[in-house]
Amino acid sequence: MEARITGVGSYTPERRVTNDELAQTLDTSDEWIRSHTGIRARHIAAPNEAASDLGAIASARALEASGVGPGEIDLILLATSTPDYQGLPSTASVVQDRLGCENAGAMDLVAACTGFVYGLETAHAYTRAGLARHVLVVGAEVYSRIVDWSDRSTCILFGDGAGACVVSAAEGEGRGIVDSVLKSRGSDAESLYRPRGGTRSPLPAGERADRDTYLKMDGRRVYVFAVSVLVDIIRRLLERNNLSIDEVDYIVPHQANMRIIEAAAKRADIPLEKFYTNLQEYANTSAASIPIALDEMNRAELLHPGSTVLTIGFGAGLAYGGNLIRW
Ligand code: ACO
Repeated sequence: MEARITGVGSYTPERRVTNDELAQTLDTSDEWIRSHTGIRARHIAAPNEAASDLGAIASARALEASGVGPGEIDLILLATSTPDYQGLPSTASVVQDRLGCENAGAMDLVAACTGFVYGLETAHAYTRAGLARHVLVVGAEVYSRIVDWSDRSTCILFGDGAGACVVSAAEGEGRGIVDSVLKSRGSDAESLYRPRGGTRSPLPAGERADRDTYLKMDGRRVYVFAVSVLVDIIRRLLERNNLSIDEVDYIVPHQANMRIIEAAAKRADIPLEKFYTNLQEYANTSAASIPIALDEMNRAELLHPGSTVLTIGFGAGLAYGGNLIRW
């Protein structure tokens, strides 16, 4: 039994914020952001849009593309670190209701920017084991609500968006999710986190949110980690599956920073053209970045049945990993 991707969809909010627009209220410039990250713009959710709103639109598009009806979905896995509500209920349950997936179980999956990679592998396991016929895997994020808009070293990096795939059990054409590697380096958890607001450091009633309620990052540390694990996961997936890089059509890395991708390409001696990027337009949308890229590539007809794709995620956790997909 294979775990095949039968439909993909995405949604990014209408409002597009350029670097120049950010520079009107922040001590930064288009030149700095572009030269240090490659980012030119990001899309920002409207005040009434939460993660489930973005996720539901992307999911409806993925369902339509797959031809699978909402009632046929057995499980919804929604990867997010910016849920509608703090911990309960799950954003997956909100999306389940919105789509009318009345026969589906629903749960959130928290692995930050690696969430979609973890979700695909979980869907792979469920379908291969015969426990689900159709799994909806969603990445949906609204980082604009958790970044400190006065911290120029982090807020310029992120954007909002959602992407989704339907993973379906199918018989033997050699297509689908072939292999995955999932890893975590929890010893570095505090190099990218939200110090306050969780059960370790709650925000008491009546107390105002302070800067520690927002995302904090040791950018240098995360940069060094990201370059090394990008190279490591590509090598592992190639070696485990007896593949040469020439047999891979595209690498779809988490869209964090062009400099991370360039450094990894150089270190692994892989032509930069093999890496698909769209962070220029959307910035870092965390768990949504890989499925948004897959949807864009699919619509641009870059992916064909049998195309070989590596997806590589890395981020808070520090979690990382990758999937080998035969499209
Ligand atoms: N505009 C202008 N100047 C800036 C800005 C800005 N937006 N941000 C930082 N600077 C300044 C700093 O203040 C510093 O000034 P100083 O030398 O006077 O002190 C200078 O630029 C250099 O700062 P660095 O932090 O050393 O800049 P660096 O080249 O390392 O780039 C960056 C910073 C882009 C954050 C980089 O470290 C990086 O990409 N790290 C990885 C981050 C990442 O991708 N995280 C997401 C992971 S995914 C997830 O799970 C969410």
